[in-house]
Amino acid sequence: MSELTDPRQVILVSSREEMDIMGKKEVKDNIITIAWHMPVSFNPQLYAVSVGKTRFSADVIKKSKAFVINFVSEDMGDKALMVGTKSGMHMDKFSECGLTKEECSSIDCPRIKEAAGYMECEVIDEVDAGDHIIFIGKVLNSHIKKSGKRLMQKEKGFIGA
Ligand SMILES: Cc1cc2nc3c(=O)[nH]c(=O)nc-3n(C[C@H](O)[C@H](O)[C@H](O)COP(=O)(O)O)c2cc1C
Repeated sequence: MSELTDPRQVILVSSREEMDIMGKKEVKDNIITIAWHMPVSFNPQLYAVSVGKTRFSADVIKKSKAFVINFVSEDMGDKALMVGTKSGMHMDKFSECGLTKEECSSIDCPRIKEAAGYMECEVIDEVDAGDHIIFIGKVLNSHIKKSGKRLMQKEKGFIGA
């Protein structure tokens, strides 16, 4: 399928929730790399992300009912690869991947300071889609910080847009 659908823009989705990690409650700030995402409504403004059921982010977002879409520039391929190949269950991807937390203004969630733009979203619906869950978020706050080429995914690796 990816031969037909790629290249796609790659984003980083951040989330926060108190999780039970091996019997201990911990507030987890996490990030996942996502290529499957899209705008789905103008009014209200809705944005959907498709998250694999096995991903730690799926558990966090299911519980928190919130996430941030962080759009990133093409020079952030190394960060996207690191974020997209490790689970956040036992590591802090912000510090491990050299990304800076910024507090959101509309939801209790961190966003990524280095991002080119962001959308703070509150989950209004979840769709069971095979091995993924589609989280539909209402955009409560958004901002474009930088213009320029965005990170694009190819079947193997990244390309400039
Ligand atoms: C370029 C790229 C695109 C990805 N796109 C998606 C995606 O759309 N949905 C998804 O569930 N995982 C996607 N992944 C895989 C997750 O980012 C990866 O499994 C990550 O380690 C999950 O982190 P978590 O367990 O901390 O949530 C992608 C990975 C990469 C490198």
